[in-house]
Amino acid sequence: MSAFEPVLTRIVGIENSHTLSVYEGQGGYQALRRGFQLDPDTVIEHVKNSNLRGRGGAGFPTGVKWGFLPSQEQSPGPRYLVCNADESEPGTFKDRVILRHNPHLLIEGCLLSCWALRANHCFIFIRGEYASEAKIVERAIAEAREAGYLGRNVLGSGFDIEVTVHRSGGAYICGEETALLECLEGKRGYPRIRPPFPAVVGLYGRPTVINNVETLACVPSIIERGGEWFTSLGPENNTGPKLYAVSGHVERPGTYELPMGIPLAELIEEHCGGIWRGRKLKAVMPGGSSTPVLTAEEALAVNMDYDSLAKAGSMFGSAAVIVMDETVDMVQVAFNLIRFYHHESCGQCTPCREGCGWLEKIMKRYTEGRGSAGDAALVLDICDNIAFKTICPLGDAARMPLEALITKYRAEFDARIAPSTFAGGGGGR
Ligand SMILES: Cc1cc2nc3c(=O)[nH]c(=O)nc-3n(C[C@H](O)[C@H](O)[C@H](O)COP(=O)(O)O)c2cc1C
Ligand code: SF4
Repeated sequence: MSAFEPVLTRIVGIENSHTLSVYEGQGGYQALRRGFQLDPDTVIEHVKNSNLRGRGGAGFPTGVKWGFLPSQEQSPGPRYLVCNADESEPGTFKDRVILRHNPHLLIEGCLLSCWALRANHCFIFIRGEYASEAKIVERAIAEAREAGYLGRNVLGSGFDIEVTVHRSGGAYICGEETALLECLEGKRGYPRIRPPFPAVVGLYGRPTVINNVETLACVPSIIERGGEWFTSLGPENNTGPKLYAVSGHVERPGTYELPMGIPLAELIEEHCGGIWRGRKLKAVMPGGSSTPVLTAEEALAVNMDYDSLAKAGSMFGSAAVIVMDETVDMVQVAFNLIRFYHHESCGQCTPCREGCGWLEKIMKRYTEGRGSAGDAALVLDICDNIAFKTICPLGDAARMPLEALITKYRAEFDARIAPSTFAGGGGGR
């Protein structure tokens, strides 16, 4: 692992790393020049060969997603690339590092992807609260335009590319790709029912690819060094460099760039300096607040990649690692999480809207020591009624961590049952 050289954060730490002169001085925009000498389909082939999987959470193979776009003959007219920089899931702050310190890498990735997809317009949809990052990206776009990397006739290719920054209103649901498209169109952030999928009917009814910041930031290095190099980092099917955003009870929280598939124990112990104040590890949410919690034992045995975490009963998600020490009250964790998801539910689907509300009430009762004997079963029943029955994955993002928490830390929940309810009484919803 020590031989690993950062790719996405290589220039982070250099003074003025966000400027064009520093980026170009470090070899920036060479991949764009190379990419424009290649046929767009060849660029797509390189991305397919890299096995790059989307870094926004679901891990869908990027090259395959790009391949879903109909050809110009099948669907003549505009098509769009949308960069998802909404980054609003609790614990997730990895994209912010790129936006803030290496915006030209993202822009270069967007431009190369536009070329591959034959899209003349890219929208960067950025979290509402990332006001200073939006300004940094806008300034970088202006510099790139001045240098001829975007605008009309990019690098003399005859191909035009526009890049527009759009600031989100600030709701977590707006990061869900179809809610995001609604927002871009000036509407309320309600997720769309699929099919049709955005690749066919996306922004303004046109074919659209939506990719995460980190996904797009991987593209320049793939074009520069080749798909095979990318696959050499990490285990099969889980390849490339990766940003891990580590928060919680470690000595050195922060964003770390390391290969895919590193042991979670190594990330916590070696890179983050171990559990703070000499305490013991209790639990880890390995991929953001929507991913099922791992016990200390499970966490210390797992590797950080899509397949290993799925095997361990959790998810890689956005690789936002939330570390909890032995003092953490898991009932309070459950309440905090469901309060967030209930607040963020857009309310379109009954199971998510009502279910999250009921779950919040039950969790609140638990935190106040007013749980009832039937509550654990009730929680699991409500979760079951949300599972896979909603328009978008927010419903599942809300119920999955709760199911894991109440199952793995049941004793802590049972300890909050009001004594009177053991005799068969129970609190209502
Ligand atoms: C509630 C919700 C919020 C999401 N927020 C984000 C986000 O902030 N950034 C992101 O890239 N993907 C987010 N996603 C995932 C996107 O819908 C989409 O899968 C992703 O942008 C695709 O990019 P990728 O293929 O590069 O991973 C969210 C999904 C859900 C359900
Ligand atoms: S699952 Fe929740 S957030 Fe998603 S569309 Fe339905 S109500 Fe809205």
